[in-house]
Amino acid sequence: MNTPVGVLLSGSGTNLQALLDAAAEGTSFRIAVVISNRRDAHGLERARQAGVPAVWIPHRGKEREAHEAELVAALREHGAEWVALAGYMRLLKTTLLAAFPQRVLNIHPALLPSFPGTHGQRQAFEYGVRIAGCTLHFVDHGTDTGPIIAQGAVPVLPDDDEDALKARILGLEHELYPRVLRWAVEGRLRIDGRRVHVDLPEGEEAFVWAR
Ligand code: GAR
Repeated sequence: MNTPVGVLLSGSGTNLQALLDAAAEGTSFRIAVVISNRRDAHGLERARQAGVPAVWIPHRGKEREAHEAELVAALREHGAEWVALAGYMRLLKTTLLAAFPQRVLNIHPALLPSFPGTHGQRQAFEYGVRIAGCTLHFVDHGTDTGPIIAQGAVPVLPDDDEDALKARILGLEHELYPRVLRWAVEGRLRIDGRRVHVDLPEGEEAFVWAR
């Protein structure tokens, strides 16, 4: 049984691509619809290439709740049971989270709770940390504040610039997101306050260290 998942994005969609590739290879989820608030998001093109419905739902000039109601309608129309944010650059408020309680995941390019918000990699680079990474978490009403499911860490190397660090983190994102989404749809995640218990499959970890 492949659980239908809706992906929301605003940009290039390399994380979407990792999810599409995992689905093509065979996993517990399939991407049922890809929705973007930006018409020119390359992620929409990736969806079309994979034969997945690609929907543009602009946010400009709309109340946040009205926009989210449109997102929910499109997700429901395509049967999505989970929602994966993959570079979706808008905050979600009540309507979408109420429609998919504890079923919205996000990937953030920093080791939360450090460096939430936009440009997590840049914030980490400029701050001068030696270890950077990414975080998969449930979405709540805050900015990147939801319960953490998995994290991946990478070193910040002496010759790095921001782009090199960004690329290293992105590689890790592509490894972790399909794994965590599979855990989610397989019912392996249980939220307990701030903590998430993962019923880990044999040989898998909720932490990755990549050089
Ligand atoms: C990714 O690095 C993702 O972690 C980040 O946007 C990028 C999207 O790349 N998300 C955020 O910063 C959310 N606050 P992609 O479009 O190539 O997947």
